[in-house]
Amino acid sequence: ATAPLVDQFQRRISYLRLSITDRCDLRCAYCMPERMTFLPRKDVLSLEELHDLALGFIDRGISKIRLTGGEPLVRRDMMELVRALGRRIGHGLEELTLTTNGTRLTEFADQLYDAGVRRINVSLDTLDRAKFAELTRRDSLPQVLEGLAAAKAAGLQVKLNTVALKGVNQPELPRLISWAHEQGFDITLIEVMPLGEVEADRVDQHLPLSVVRDDLEQRWTLVPSGHRTGGPARYFDVVETGGRLGLITPLTNNFCEGCNRIRVTATGQLFACLGGSEQVDLRAALRSEDPDGALAEALAVAMRIKPARHNFAIDHRGQAPAQPRHMSMTGG
Ligand code: GTP
Ligand code: 5AD
Ligand code: SF4
Repeated sequence: ATAPLVDQFQRRISYLRLSITDRCDLRCAYCMPERMTFLPRKDVLSLEELHDLALGFIDRGISKIRLTGGEPLVRRDMMELVRALGRRIGHGLEELTLTTNGTRLTEFADQLYDAGVRRINVSLDTLDRAKFAELTRRDSLPQVLEGLAAAKAAGLQVKLNTVALKGVNQPELPRLISWAHEQGFDITLIEVMPLGEVEADRVDQHLPLSVVRDDLEQRWTLVPSGHRTGGPARYFDVVETGGRLGLITPLTNNFCEGCNRIRVTATGQLFACLGGSEQVDLRAALRSEDPDGALAEALAVAMRIKPARHNFAIDHRGQAPAQPRHMSMTGG
């Protein structure tokens, strides 16, 4: 194996978030505008390049790979990559997983399980069909619920991701959490991050999770849990429901000190931080005369430029996004 990835703050990088497409079949209002411009397909890494890249990372001590998007399940040849990487589980790779919007899980749940995936994260912000259609601009809630049922039936552990939106799904959060726990799903609430221009003002979307937590503690007992996934969520056991609730607080409670991850876009750009613009071009490295040497060099640069922390803030109306790129570029 090659030298492991350690940044200048001595953080060991073991978690790769690999976006395999920037495209998506939904248009969540906090993520992208209705009229989103997607990348030309020729710019996107081929399946073979994604595979080579992933193996290069596993060789350097990456033990967890999460495929993201956009929506990873809309990429046509995606299962081939999942199967190929699935064969590395137990051989350097400990976990292969996905973050998905769930619209295509009915078709893919069994195949994912068979390829070695055991746990997936599914975005779901509301159980109200009209609200879902308004929020994602697509009437796909029944499809997502069917997909979730298929995932459960396939034996996949599910974590729901819910972006907490002021006044939109805020009143529904206790019901959504109860429902998740009844289904046997974990659920994490996420503070909206100011990435990319969307129609709404981020001030109108931002709901600090400290507020939600106070509200939830009026009805439930939240006990800090030792549960760890290697992700940014802090988990609590909800005594009354018997389920697990995670809070992801990039705005109100920074978690960057323990950061163990990097992300790579579908075009092979490595972003050292979700909130920063520090990047290196891995596609150029892969397509160079000496891919191994060029990749080693690019990753050494990435480790030097990874910033200490992101600095997300939502303070005033009309504020420019922390980064112009949308979340769908980096998959979160
Ligand atoms: P597990 O912990 O493995 O379940 O996954 P995860 O929470 O790391 O991944 P997921 O794709 O479900 O992401 C949930 C939310 O966490 C998304 O909104 C991501 O953008 C956010 N997130 C993940 N990593 C980071 C990070 O390094 N910084 C910030 N600010 N947000 C992150
Ligand atoms: N802020 C916070 N979370 C976001 N997501 C997408 N865009 C944003 C944003 N601007 C969430 C999705 C998905 C996860 C990968 O990131 O809902 O669950
Ligand atoms: Fe698609 Fe996920 Fe963005 Fe929603 S949050 S538009 S499902 S990429």
